[in-house]
Amino acid sequence: MVTSRIGVLGRGRLPADEPVLRADDLGVLRGDGLFETMHLRDGRAWLRQEHLARLRTGAAAVELALPADDALVELLDEVAADWPAEVEGALRLVCTRGPERGGPPTVYATLSEVAPAARRARHDGVSVATLSLGVPAEARPELDWLPAGIKSTSYGASSAARRWAARAGVDDVLWISSDGYALEGPTANLVWLAGETLGTVPAARTGILPGTTVAWLLAHAADVGCGAAERMVTPTELREAEGVWLTSSVRGLVAVHTLDGEPLPPSPLTRALQQLLGFPMS
Ligand SMILES: Cc1ncc(COP(=O)(O)O)c(C=O)c1O
Repeated sequence: MVTSRIGVLGRGRLPADEPVLRADDLGVLRGDGLFETMHLRDGRAWLRQEHLARLRTGAAAVELALPADDALVELLDEVAADWPAEVEGALRLVCTRGPERGGPPTVYATLSEVAPAARRARHDGVSVATLSLGVPAEARPELDWLPAGIKSTSYGASSAARRWAARAGVDDVLWISSDGYALEGPTANLVWLAGETLGTVPAARTGILPGTTVAWLLAHAADVGCGAAERMVTPTELREAEGVWLTSSVRGLVAVHTLDGEPLPPSPLTRALQQLLGFPMS
């Protein structure tokens, strides 16, 4: 097991057990911050520009002052330097609001080994249960005060959903709107195959996180002989689809083998999609 690493903007690499946040940082007190998690490949973050662009969009939405991209890239490179090539790494960039009574955001990066459970899920797939989010699919973007689709450090609802999944004996959750549409998982986007089209849920229309992995995958769908479309989908339609997957930056693409206790047929496309995305399968 390789020790996790930490680097802080303005302080450089620090011992992994070094405290980096003040107790009054609003990131801790209110979950007031943003983050990105990236997959480390050949010593650098895969889709780094896409992640930094999403971070910047989120920062504008919550009025958080972000350092320039150059400084963020330098921090990421510093933390990733000399990471052993044979160890799959997950690189996280965090930007908190900073001290309660004012002060600069705290910006730091962590790098750690990808969890064995994430690697296993690529092979084994996951069981998923639907879970009501309690709001109509298009309600959140209609609220002009509410920043939607940002990767906020407020992950209370995601953590609660994950605990619910553990109690229910499933691997993951798929949030369903009160009007019956599938949205996303607590840490992943939804992809399905209908005919020869890979589908995903429209982020702008629903307020879900616009995933970097799913965006890349759908932009390259033609490489596996598929079209791509954003559209709304119901759990019933998913049960009739030729494949259902979850995508995210570290786990990559994992097949949903069971939905609400009902087995879904394995898709012959799973391996090709995983190869296209380039996540290690060992
Ligand atoms: C709520 C949510 N949706 C989707 C995703 C997938 O996004 P990405 O592919 O950019 O990692 C994540 C990633 O953590 C997430 O937290």
